[in-house]
Amino acid sequence: MVDAWNSSDKFNREASQWDENPQRRAVALGVAQALIAAVKPKKTMRALEFGCGTGLVSIEIAPLVKRLSAVDTSPEMLAVLQEKIGTFGITNIETSCTNLSASTESALNEQQFELIYSSMTLHHIDDTSAFLNSISALLSLGGIIALADLDLEDGLFHDDPNEKVHYGFDRKALSALLNGAGLQVMSFETIYTFNKTNRAGIIALYPVFLVTATKNQSVPQE
Ligand SMILES: C[S@@+](CC[C@H](N)C(=O)[O-])C[C@H]1O[C@@H](n2cnc3c(N)ncnc32)[C@H](O)[C@@H]1O
Repeated sequence: MVDAWNSSDKFNREASQWDENPQRRAVALGVAQALIAAVKPKKTMRALEFGCGTGLVSIEIAPLVKRLSAVDTSPEMLAVLQEKIGTFGITNIETSCTNLSASTESALNEQQFELIYSSMTLHHIDDTSAFLNSISALLSLGGIIALADLDLEDGLFHDDPNEKVHYGFDRKALSALLNGAGLQVMSFETIYTFNKTNRAGIIALYPVFLVTATKNQSVPQE
């Protein structure tokens, strides 16, 4: 069955030009800088980025951690990242074409990470609550999750009206979902604001948050 929420077609098509968009590069750099300030990545950490795309964020994080699993569902986005890995001689990033929202299979299920992060990907995943539970299970005790995404928006951010996405997130509601996944919210901050012409042709502001949360104890079984 085709998962309309997880069609890699659009990202496969856009992959080769992805990095040419200055706002994409700017938000990724903003996310990386805010994440580094908030999390203080360490050389002992095993890190995971889901929805890594062409690796705009992970290229910045990789030198600061032990190893990094860069996961995406688009083979073409990953191919661009793979090319950068070769060009820059990066030895600690491993790419994986995996859909972490598919509960049935995951090459990563056996692994644990001290840091899991994403940038502009959570709104592409249908069942936020189930997904947060899945990634919480991959996080070691004391580990940190850092998610950057859009605040609640007017539904006009994406150009394609048929694209399946969440229209950003309400911070209180997302905090409750993180708590429900056994995670304690540490910080919520605005780290970037898109200034873009939306689908209605109006120039509008779309703030991006970074939320960090930690896993202090085992997820309750009931
Ligand atoms: C808006 S792009 C962001 C890419 C990158 N994080 C960046 O900031 O440039 C969203 C990415 O998430 C990927 N994606 C969507 N659903 C996914 C899923 N369920 N699991 C892993 N990756 C997913 C897409 O293929 C795409 O590369």
